[in-house]
Amino acid sequence: MPFQIVRNDITRMQVDAIVNAANSSLLGGGGVDGAIHAAAGPELRAECATLGGCDVGEAKITAAYRLPAKYVIHTVGPIWRGGGNGERELLTACYRNALALAEANGCETVAFPLISAGAYGYPESQAVAVAEETIRAYLMEHDLTVYLVLYGPTELPTRSRVLLEVLRYIGWARQAAAGAMPAPMAPPPAGTEDRPRRKREAEQAIRVEEAAREKARRQVYAAADEAMATPLMAAVEELLKRTDEGFSAALLRLIDERGMTDAQAYRRANVDRRLFSKIRSNPDYRPSKSTVFAFAVALRLTLPETEDLLRKAGFAFSDASKSDLVVKFFLERHLWDIDEINEVLYQFDLPLLGSL
Ligand code: APR
Repeated sequence: MPFQIVRNDITRMQVDAIVNAANSSLLGGGGVDGAIHAAAGPELRAECATLGGCDVGEAKITAAYRLPAKYVIHTVGPIWRGGGNGERELLTACYRNALALAEANGCETVAFPLISAGAYGYPESQAVAVAEETIRAYLMEHDLTVYLVLYGPTELPTRSRVLLEVLRYIGWARQAAAGAMPAPMAPPPAGTEDRPRRKREAEQAIRVEEAAREKARRQVYAAADEAMATPLMAAVEELLKRTDEGFSAALLRLIDERGMTDAQAYRRANVDRRLFSKIRSNPDYRPSKSTVFAFAVALRLTLPETEDLLRKAGFAFSDASKSDLVVKFFLERHLWDIDEINEVLYQFDLPLLGSL
């Protein structure tokens, strides 16, 4: 999964580079800056002292010393002064420059804290939005794995305007799945039925129903014969061809039908390039359900199209699964925003869409 939101202490992340929310001196401070310097050891500060500071929005790289990462990329976020002083542009530049520097140094995995969202006062929900949008945009053109690391009590201030609606939706669906539907016709209480009369009536009803079924069957066959002689046959044949189409063939067809490139499809699905290569090269590839959902969102499939793609991968929606219900909620409303869906899944501590 090229982009993931995780809850962790960034100094523990086993990635090629962690990003530090530093100040312009680069000589350490509090917050995540303090944590990184404390974990890396004094050598980090010594190397930083040779860099001559760093401008806001810019990024500089050092070794990581005692940290599990290979590099520390130091960037200086903007101090929040109400939003009218180019804060958004500067914060965007922090993420973009840090990613470019990571890639220039051969990093494949990068972890970011929520830059400027602490001492620098950037409103958390806006800081998350800038981070997500900038990172996802970069990943549409580059193959990296990027983590946004939330720390401590920092909640993911979901931008999702639909969280409450999803909660309600899940409640209703779960209730229905749990049997709150009207109970099946209860049998007549013992001793009250008039058996002989009721038995005759029941047999008569069955005969009538059977005759109706037979008539309907005859009509269907007649219509099918007629259809065989018309151009409709091509559509029927096309449909039949698809019935034995596997997941991989169906996915590639859907990508072609939308005029998308493979890269656009798997990047928009937050799916790793290597995984996509496996899907493309193996007609019998069996994806995870989460991967099917990720492509359904990326290709903007309707619910029936998604159900068909799930079936081809050997799955079906389950109203007993919260993840399925969250995805179904968004697809039914044509809300094909994988980041928004992942924010909601994250709130429920459910696996995010996409896959490594
Ligand atoms: N791991 C991950 N995230 C962390 C950690 C940690 N160990 N410690 C703090 N954070 C989070 C905070 O919860 C916040 O969401 O990092 C985010 C950024 O907060 P700050 O560290 O305060 O950074 P920032 O808001 O950019 O302010 C930078 O603070 O520490 C000083 O020297 C730093 O002057 C600079 C200023």
